[in-house]
Amino acid sequence: MCGIVGYIGPRNATEVVVNGLQRLEYRGYDSAGIAIHGEPEGLQLRRSVGKLINLVEHLSEAPARGNIGIGHTRWATHGGVTEENAHPHRSSCGEIVVIQNGIVENYRELKGRLIELGHTFDSQTDTEVIAHLVGHYYSQTGQLEAAVRQALGELRGGNAVVAFSVSEPDRIVAARLGNAGSVTIGLGDGEIFVASDMPAILDYTRTMIFLEDREVAVVSRDAVRMSTLTGEYVKREPVAVQWDPVSAAKGDYKHFMQKEINEQPRALMDILRGRIDQDAGKVYLEDLKLDDAALRRVERIYAVACGTAWHAGLLAKFIIESLACVRVEVDYGSEFRYRQPVLGDDALLLAITQSGETADTLAAMEEARNQGAPSVALVNAIGSQAARVADGGTIYLHAGPEIGVASTKAFTSMIVGAYLFGLRLAQARETLTPQQIREHIQALIELPGKVEQVIQQTESQCADLAEHYYHATNALYLGRQFNYPIALEGALKLKEISYIHAEGYPAGEMKHGPVALIDENLPVVCIAPRDPIYEKMLSNVEQVKARHGQVIAIGTVGDDDLAAKADHTIFVPETLPLLTPALTVIPLQFFAYYVALLRGADVDQPRNLAKSVTVE
Ligand code: F6R
Repeated sequence: MCGIVGYIGPRNATEVVVNGLQRLEYRGYDSAGIAIHGEPEGLQLRRSVGKLINLVEHLSEAPARGNIGIGHTRWATHGGVTEENAHPHRSSCGEIVVIQNGIVENYRELKGRLIELGHTFDSQTDTEVIAHLVGHYYSQTGQLEAAVRQALGELRGGNAVVAFSVSEPDRIVAARLGNAGSVTIGLGDGEIFVASDMPAILDYTRTMIFLEDREVAVVSRDAVRMSTLTGEYVKREPVAVQWDPVSAAKGDYKHFMQKEINEQPRALMDILRGRIDQDAGKVYLEDLKLDDAALRRVERIYAVACGTAWHAGLLAKFIIESLACVRVEVDYGSEFRYRQPVLGDDALLLAITQSGETADTLAAMEEARNQGAPSVALVNAIGSQAARVADGGTIYLHAGPEIGVASTKAFTSMIVGAYLFGLRLAQARETLTPQQIREHIQALIELPGKVEQVIQQTESQCADLAEHYYHATNALYLGRQFNYPIALEGALKLKEISYIHAEGYPAGEMKHGPVALIDENLPVVCIAPRDPIYEKMLSNVEQVKARHGQVIAIGTVGDDDLAAKADHTIFVPETLPLLTPALTVIPLQFFAYYVALLRGADVDQPRNLAKSVTVE
């Protein structure tokens, strides 16, 4: 979620960096900081807790000047919201400054090693580990680029890292590991800019180069030299960005939906950031207003939502009941308010909504308030109505703006948000031990990487599959247990953007009706990861095949049995059964996207739909 800006050139770097940070403040506002180097002032570090305005005020009292600088807006992940934890961070020698967007998954191990080597740490952040590690290698090589390269070679996780050294004030080194943090380099006339997002530098240039995974750029005033992390030279032509807010925000993607599917690893890292403590086996939900005692009093949860968010509600039921042993009922917002629900003061309403403006979901929250039951909003849009009226507090998804009408990244973030809430309840109610919570946290930490793997490995497979099936007039989606909601979600994605009629069903219900639909023309998507209900799902696949349906199976990597039975198989990695939906849904998002594309449909703005449904 953090925002990153860097500048080298003739202007006052402070102005450029702060201006850029202003465009990125939505990415994080726990703290902001800049490091500027100039002569004769040397290195000037300014950091402030809270919104960017606090840094601006700090700078008016203690100005910074120079021609090279980096800046950061922080969304706290490791370590609380304090000035010491604000970026930039410095190496032990104080010469190197570093900012980061991402998570260093193995920071504890690296920190331990560095402490043994005599390094002392001023903050609790994972980023300070990078600064010390770069400093460590710098003391051996005397060269920033080489030191960054060596240090990054040891990091696990997804990161965008930007650094400079006061001993080499003619260059900034920027690097990207994984897809969690993008790095854009803007080329000017005798000046170069670095940013996590284009809008930060669009005031100055529209000529951009985008760093790919595991690439390093050495940026001076008039040149960018790029190479892979292992040192191979990379040549990439700059792109002329035709600026309009929409096309620039879409980056290299054809549609927002495609972009947002690809953003899921980053979105999932952002929702986890600052909320999990692996050592303590604890989850923190900073905006939840219910304390342990209040969470222990909850006897029933009503998960209320619409559309895709309702599918997330179905998953929330599995997750919360299994982790925290609290009964969960799932309702459509549009049904809840008219069925005269009996809530009572031991009930809690969990409103799940991307936009936070869906009228039916808001009406359910109002009903809860009238009946004296608190509401908690699992919501993406910061400051939206749902966030404002949730008297029990808010769990922000932090998925970033979702612009494609078909919800994708908000959905997977909702799954993880529900998981965090389930763990938080379990912690308060002691239905899981800290050690068990630690195991769940570990699976959550590994999830963005697995989602990334699914994206990399399945997008082109799904595009090929779409070629086979885009003429279909009907489709059936089957899943069981945790993947039954994914069957519903896969079907919804297909129908809403490609206008193909699609039904999602619990696979066990197939024999009670939908089986009549099956013939050789019907694509049947069977979601069959290796989970506790796998064998049953395999029998359903056989039943479909016996009736000559075309089976597209989603299974766990290495499942040859499934592959032998299905017409097409797409594999996802293994994870905890309750988290498989966050992986199995991705190929279904891609499949719907490519089918819609081939049918010439308006993917981002399907007919008759709107992103925020603010009417009943
Ligand atoms: C489908 C979709 C809709 C929304 C629904 C609720 O892809 O996006 O079904 O999920 O309109 O919207 P929010 O989450 O904003 O309340």
